Amino acid sequence: MTLIASLPVATEEMAQALVEALGASEELDFPTAATTEQADKSWIVDIYFEDAPDETVLATLIADAMKGSVPHYTVAPLPDEDWVAKSLEGLRPVRAGRFLVHGSHDREKIRPGDIAIEIEAGEAFGTGHHGTTAGCLAEIDRICTARDFGSILDLGTGTGVLAIAIAKAFGKRVLATDIDAVATRVTRENAVLNGVGDLIEAETAEGFGNPVFAAHAPFELIIANILAGPLIALAGDIARHLDPASGTVVLSGLLTAQGPSVTAAYEAEGLKLVRSGEMEGWLTLTLERAR
Ligand SMILES: C[S@@+](CC[C@H](N)C(=O)[O-])C[C@H]1O[C@@H](n2cnc3c(N)ncnc32)[C@H](O)[C@@H]1O
Repeated sequence: MTLIASLPVATEEMAQALVEALGASEELDFPTAATTEQADKSWIVDIYFEDAPDETVLATLIADAMKGSVPHYTVAPLPDEDWVAKSLEGLRPVRAGRFLVHGSHDREKIRPGDIAIEIEAGEAFGTGHHGTTAGCLAEIDRICTARDFGSILDLGTGTGVLAIAIAKAFGKRVLATDIDAVATRVTRENAVLNGVGDLIEAETAEGFGNPVFAAHAPFELIIANILAGPLIALAGDIARHLDPASGTVVLSGLLTAQGPSVTAAYEAEGLKLVRSGEMEGWLTLTLERAR
């Protein structure tokens, strides 16, 4: 069951300091955090846990990051409702590169030249509002414009937003996988909604043992917006499934402080970092086979 702790903090800097401390923590097992600005310019940091955290470790981390001024918070079960939809209700459309990610209520915001991707806040992650998704979209626009990729994998596809972006903008086929069967169902629905149902193969797959990866490998482009821990664990598998001559990897879901350890894991597999972009405290790394 997912748990949540919501902490009110005074400034964006404090919110970022807390998020970075969470990301750097080796004891809290990579909790997910989201920051939201309030009407009075203060901030809320929502921390999501898949398992109950050690409350003493959490309290110490918060006290250190907040330099002693600890806001009141509780760790409580996330209400068993469609919380992703609830938390994202009414959000604005998001622009990244030439992409505009929007809900059906914002179709009139599409401008000439936009590559519009319609995604409803729903049961899967990826409406474009998160810095990791937006960072990946901007990088996709840049690298796929510069070069033609053959076989493409979107690992951890969520709503399918990144796979749909590639299919829509560049007419490319994409294998979109996720460990969550809800995400792959949502991806299929979103692919059809966006007119690229025939270009996206969505599969539920836990680990690279699933034969769908071997059937499509080697990949010339692998995009994985997951989290630092799984990205490090997957470095060997990702590198092995990459085209040995011309493979590119785009990684996101990691905080700025986690960049060096994720990069090191991929460098150890023979890749080299060619670009690193930051959006709202989240990094997007682009790596290629070292020549
Ligand atoms: C942060 S969301 C990214 C969604 C979307 N690609 C985007 O950029 O907005 C991460 C997704 O990765 C999936 N995931 C987590 N670990 C995974 C793994 N080891 N293999 C494949 N998918 C994974 C999660 O279920 C989730 O849907």
